[in-house]
Order: sequence, then structure tokens, then C-alpha cells
Amino acid sequence: MTKDIFDKIFQGDCEKILQDFPDNCIDLIFTSPPYADQRAKTYGGIKPDNYVEWFLPKAAEFKRILKPSGTFILNIKERVVDGERHTYVIDLILKMREQGWLWTEEFMWHKKNSYPGKWPNRFRDNWERLIQFNKAKAFAMYQEAVMVPIGDWAKDRLANLSETDKIRDESRAGSGFGKNVSNWIGRDMVYPTNVLHMATETGNKNHSAVFPLDLPQWFIKLFTKPGDVVLDPFVGSGTTALAAIKLGRHFVGIDISPEYVEISNQRLLETQLRLPTIAEKKAKYSVSKNGKRHKK
Ligand SMILES: C[S@@+](CC[C@H](N)C(=O)[O-])C[C@H]1O[C@@H](n2cnc3c(N)ncnc32)[C@H](O)[C@@H]1O
Repeated sequence: MTKDIFDKIFQGDCEKILQDFPDNCIDLIFTSPPYADQRAKTYGGIKPDNYVEWFLPKAAEFKRILKPSGTFILNIKERVVDGERHTYVIDLILKMREQGWLWTEEFMWHKKNSYPGKWPNRFRDNWERLIQFNKAKAFAMYQEAVMVPIGDWAKDRLANLSETDKIRDESRAGSGFGKNVSNWIGRDMVYPTNVLHMATETGNKNHSAVFPLDLPQWFIKLFTKPGDVVLDPFVGSGTTALAAIKLGRHFVGIDISPEYVEISNQRLLETQLRLPTIAEKKAKYSVSKNGKRHKK
């Protein structure tokens, strides 16, 4: 059964489609659901006041089909209603915790190519939230896969270490986090922060809410290894599925709109024609315990 559901885009309501999926079969859920009411003309928005009620039964299915080691990343942002931010995202987080999810972390996507704008009472909205939920505290995470170059700051900062920099400096705010700056001398790569600086997608993908390929790719690298399964239950134009294919992971995509399913399939076909198959890719690599891929 499980093999039949991989590497496909399904058309329909994700809540219903997922009812046919077995428990614990997905490693990562990465998705950007319809935002409350925002794009009603394009693909049927949900009223902000009804958003939590609409989303919760879907979240229950996501929880059932996600492996205990898996992660759910939800890309969402509360919209402004009557001059203030609506609370449906905060309400949703609280309700999902009641459903048994852990609200493990939150990432910020800074849209680095936003153009300027003028509003009477606020500035241009230039970032989105990516909220991380897990079923268990011990989830799969491959931090080495998303390391970044240490950058120029290191030349000056590490050349002038204070005495505190050379020992573990416990957080003064009592957070329990400490740092030993001298540990980073001589290293080229460091772990990133939870703020991602990525340009928005500007190319025409025939969908009004396409996120950049880099966004799902970053999370797929962080939370899965080659051969794992990535689900996007609101797949739109297929960006998450495309990212999964490019990284040698299996995918499952779902969208309620037949038109978007068609667009997704077309994009995936074009990509698959240009890439070696997932099987070929997997055969070329082995994965060590720390998640690093080694060429065989
Ligand atoms: C924000 S868009 C996703 C865009 C996508 N990230 C991309 O890069 O193209 C949300 C999608 O959810 C779909 N959708 C809305 N309700 C749905 C449901 N109940 N089940 C599955 N898909 C749904 C819409 O058709 C829309 O394409």
C-alpha cells in the first residue's frame, strides 16, 4: 500500500485523501495552507474566525500519518482584520498543542527582495512564519546539511577574544543556553540561525502563492535524509514536490484544485526529464549517522 501513495500528486481535500494513508508513513510535512480569506477569489479562502475549526481536523490527520521522528513545518502568517492582526495563528498553535503536538520551534522567512510600500499605520510585511510542530521531543534533524560559511565577521571577532570568549559563557538571561566563542576558531562552516533570508518567487507559475524552491529545500535537507518521504497537503503548483525530487526524497502532494494538480504534474514531469531518477540518486550516496551524504 505505502509504495502506491508515494511520488504522486492527488487531487482532492487533503483531509479526505489522507484518511486512506497508513499511520506513521511520512517523515516531513511541509506546507503553506490557504491563508485566511486572503485569496478567496483565487482558491477559496477561509474566514479568519473559522480558520482554526477548518484546520484542526486536517492537523489530526497530519499527526496520524507523520512518523514519531517526523516534523511538520507550517508556513502561515496572520492577516490584518479591522486594523489589527487576527489571532488565528496563535489560536491554532494553542489548539494544536491540545491535540498533542509539540510547538518545537519557529523560523522566520525574511523576504529579501521585497519592494518598498507605504501604508498609513504599518510598514511593508516582509517576513513569514514557519512554525515547527513535532510529535516527540526526539525528532530527526540533520543540522550539518544546512551549515553556512562562517562569514567575514569571524576574522575580526575571533582575532580579538576576551577571557569570557575562551570559556563557556552561560546565558545571563538564564535561558540555559551558553556559548564558547573560541570553539569556532579555524572553522569554515557554522550552523545557521532560525532566520532565513530568501527571495520570493517572482516567476509566473500560474499560481498566486508560490514560495521559492529554496524554502522547502532548506527544511527537507534539515529534517530528512535521501529516500525519506515529504508530504505537502496543500501543494499548489508543486514546489515542495519539486524540491523533494531534486534532493532524492520521495514526495506526496495533494491539492483540491484540478488545475493546480495539472500544473504540478507538468512541472514535475519537466524536472524529472532533466534529473536522474530518485533511485539512481539514492544509489550514488550513502548517509552517515550525522546525516552527511557520502558519494559511494
Ligand atoms: C498557499 S497555496 C500553496 C502554494 C504552494 N506552496 C506553491 O508553491 O505553489 C494553498 C493551496 O491549497 C489548496 N487547497 C485549499 N484547500 C485545500 C484542501 N482542503 N485540501 C487540499 N488542498 C487545498 C489550494 O488550491 C492552493 O493551491
